[in-house]
Amino acid sequence: MAQEEAGSLPEVLARVGAAHGIPDLAQKLHFYDRWAPDYDQDVATLQYCAPRLAVDCLTQAFPGPPHSALILDVACGTGLVAAELQARGFLQLHGVDGSPEMLKQARARGLYQRLSLCTLGQEPLPSPEGTFDAVLIVGALSDGQVPCSAIPELLRVTKPGGLVCLTTRTNSSNLQYKEALEATLDSLEQAGAWECLVALPVDRWELATSELEVVPGTSAKDGFISGIIYLYRKQKATQVEENMKPEPPWNMQCTVVSEQGPKAKAKSKRLLRPKPCPGQLPDPNSEPRDPSDRSGAGPHSISSSIKGS
Ligand SMILES: C[S@@+](CC[C@H](N)C(=O)[O-])C[C@H]1O[C@@H](n2cnc3c(N)ncnc32)[C@H](O)[C@@H]1O
Repeated sequence: MAQEEAGSLPEVLARVGAAHGIPDLAQKLHFYDRWAPDYDQDVATLQYCAPRLAVDCLTQAFPGPPHSALILDVACGTGLVAAELQARGFLQLHGVDGSPEMLKQARARGLYQRLSLCTLGQEPLPSPEGTFDAVLIVGALSDGQVPCSAIPELLRVTKPGGLVCLTTRTNSSNLQYKEALEATLDSLEQAGAWECLVALPVDRWELATSELEVVPGTSAKDGFISGIIYLYRKQKATQVEENMKPEPPWNMQCTVVSEQGPKAKAKSKRLLRPKPCPGQLPDPNSEPRDPSDRSGAGPHSISSSIKGS
């Protein structure tokens, strides 16, 4: 992407809005290849805070010293998540992404010990089972990017008792994907593969690229779209039901489960309020709400619960 195109908000909104509309994975990865040199500057213009909020969430629940933990950043892009991890003392970082040019930017950041080209949903992660203390996937769970069928693969490479942090947007065009994602997350929890520690709705995820995405009466405010962060802990003795075994994960379909999933089980033990993004004011009306409500809609600004930490 030409350097002179980068910069102004209308240009960024047009470019990112067009990307959201690409349904095909190969085309999307090609778009990321071209966007890579301008990505960091553009998402800063959009006030995109997912990397910081996700890493905050992980850090608050992480049980041990960060410097000795091995972390996998899935769909790492240019490495914004790695920068946040390093700032909190996580130093052993691996990354994977499906875009060679995004990986090139990540490599230039110099924070990852290992970076691999890997297309989630089409091939397995290049790591043995139970390798990582924590796995994050930030900004890549949506239509045309990482399919829900790749979720068991994240779980496979996580150590027993390790943490998996995932994010998705909750704006109107992503609600169908979010529903399928939550069905997958819930299925794995019902199968005893992991337990949900946090479901954290975030009002100001990034600036909306279209007014249609800011639905009146939802949690999106001031031209922002909303998002949500999930944190799961892999069970120590994994008892994955036969139909949920991640083999082969890239062929799995999303599984719809009953409404009696872990959403209903999540009980508030303590509250987490991430700091607002730079330039954003905390919402004084923010109240904790039922962590089982993962709609991302409602009157409250940012709330969540962590259980068992
Ligand atoms: C919005 S960026 C997020 C990057 C980084 N995690 C962040 O938050 O800044 C999405 C990234 O996901 C990658 N991606 C999308 N679909 C993918 C897939 N199926 N497999 C691997 N990487 C994928 C893209 O190449 C891109 O780097």
